Amino acid sequence: MRDPETAPLIEVNSSRARGRPRLATAEMLLFPAIVAGLVTMFAAVASALAGWHRDLMLLIAAGVGALLLAPALFLVFRMRRRSGAIELALASAQARVGGIVESAMDAIITIDSTQRIVHFNAAAEAAFRWPRRAVLGEPIEMLIPERFRAGHRAHVERFAATAVTSRGMGAQTVIHGLRADGVEFPIEASISQHEEGGVKLLTVILRDITRRADAEREVKRGESRLLGILDSAMDAIITVDDRQHIVIFNAAAEAVFRCPRDQAVGAPLDWFIPERFRSGHGELVRRFGEFDQPSRRMGSARVVTGLRRDGEEFPIEASISHTAEGGQKFYTVILRDVTERVRAEAALKRSQDEIQSLALAASGAREQEKSRIARELHDELGQALTALKIDVGWLRENGGRESPERLAKIESMQRLLDSTVAAARRISADLRPLMLDDLGLVAACEWLVQNFTQRTGIACELVMGKGDFDLSDPHATAVFRVLQESLTNAAKHSHATQVEAAIEREGESIVLTVSDNGSGFSHQAGSKPGSFGHLGLRERAYHLGGSVAIDSAPGKGTRIELRIPAPGGGAA
Ligand SMILES: Nc1ncnc2c1ncn2[C@@H]1O[C@H](COP(=O)(O)OP(=O)(O)O)[C@@H](O)[C@H]1O
Ligand SMILES: [Mg+2]
Repeated sequence: MRDPETAPLIEVNSSRARGRPRLATAEMLLFPAIVAGLVTMFAAVASALAGWHRDLMLLIAAGVGALLLAPALFLVFRMRRRSGAIELALASAQARVGGIVESAMDAIITIDSTQRIVHFNAAAEAAFRWPRRAVLGEPIEMLIPERFRAGHRAHVERFAATAVTSRGMGAQTVIHGLRADGVEFPIEASISQHEEGGVKLLTVILRDITRRADAEREVKRGESRLLGILDSAMDAIITVDDRQHIVIFNAAAEAVFRCPRDQAVGAPLDWFIPERFRSGHGELVRRFGEFDQPSRRMGSARVVTGLRRDGEEFPIEASISHTAEGGQKFYTVILRDVTERVRAEAALKRSQDEIQSLALAASGAREQEKSRIARELHDELGQALTALKIDVGWLRENGGRESPERLAKIESMQRLLDSTVAAARRISADLRPLMLDDLGLVAACEWLVQNFTQRTGIACELVMGKGDFDLSDPHATAVFRVLQESLTNAAKHSHATQVEAAIEREGESIVLTVSDNGSGFSHQAGSKPGSFGHLGLRERAYHLGGSVAIDSAPGKGTRIELRIPAPGGGAA
């Protein structure tokens, strides 16, 4: 390549070849006059020799000759002086050029038409490690590695055959020089040609670019190392420039987007984004680039959608970062195909929903079954037992007195019947208090609390808040069963001396709280195998769109809070 620093040198070389001394105007006038005089003189001498007016002709010849002598002498003198000046100028120009060439930073080598070295500057000595005297007169090939020699010779010959004065060498490939110690080195060179004294000379100006080539190689090595790392990453990595055209596309990206790297690099990122998201995405990336934040997750709330080269869309989880290099912004997206995960999550959700609706159906069915048995026990068995009691009473009144043994038997039958009636009532109420269906939630809960204190001896207070507690069945059952399970737990596990229950309305929600002053428990212990009480509470709440909070710690008692939306009743 032609270097601006070396260009003037080439100019000097070629202008010196062009420069010819011009004749001054006086000389231009004198010259034809002298020629005319000479012609006249020769004509006169020729006539005298031929014997035509001999004396006159000789006189004319002598006269013209005398006339010519002075200007001829003057001309000769002028020309000599001029050529002396020219030679001096030439010598000084040569010295000047020689000095410049010698002090040039670039190696400058001049060869003749047989490609032998005729000039070799100091920088060339340094670059090729040859002293000047060892190379002058030698073929240029000694400075070129063996394998390039033939090609080089042909190249120089081709150049010499053209009329071009100068041009770069090895524009496409890096050319090499050979040092005295046999080491090759990369060079950058330009060549020029000129003529000197009718001899064609070629001058090569070259520069050792070993260091630059090393640096370039190091950069390339770094790049390929980086690419190696990127390719071993499990996630797809794509870097785009600020026009959002792809500059890096790793192996995982090839697999995920089903697109070979050589097609992807240079392509717009839009290739891999479904059409409907393109404009939004571009805008997002641009806005992201304006923030100082160096990286963030993309679509943190949702999974974003990618587009494979074959047109298939798929869910992606991605993060983006940006960097600036040489004033240009680059964005790197690291992403993962989460098709499998999304599919598995959907399947899990589906199966959870199925299990929950199954559990709901099962608990509903159980509740119905309990209710039916409770009613059957109460109505059928209760009535039959009552009838029996009446009959036994009649027996006792009429003829019971005949024998004391018979009377004792009848009295024992009456006691058994009484306890059986009580048992039937208790079993029925435990199954499901008919009060819940017949008298409503408040009465059923009051009965439950009384019954709890009676059975366990633990003081229990039920506080009813203001408002409407006339709930429809699934809601009433849920509140009742949660209270029942909480009281049972308090009795079974807490060793409490006091339990407080409250049912309140908070706007559109019903809130039940049950607190005991017992032992409490640690959540960290996890749920005991075979313990489904708390699980049942959560399930009931979940199906009604509500929630259960269980607040407990060892030694701190336990507090259960059920909150379910119960539409219809506003605060009173
Ligand atoms: N009120 C309470 N006081 C102390 N520990 C409790 C209380 N309620 C529940 N627990 C603890 O939590 C566990 C889980 O309760 P639960 O799910 O109702 O199962 P279960 O009552 O069948 O054991 C109980 O085994 C008990 O150790
Ligand atoms: Mg329990």
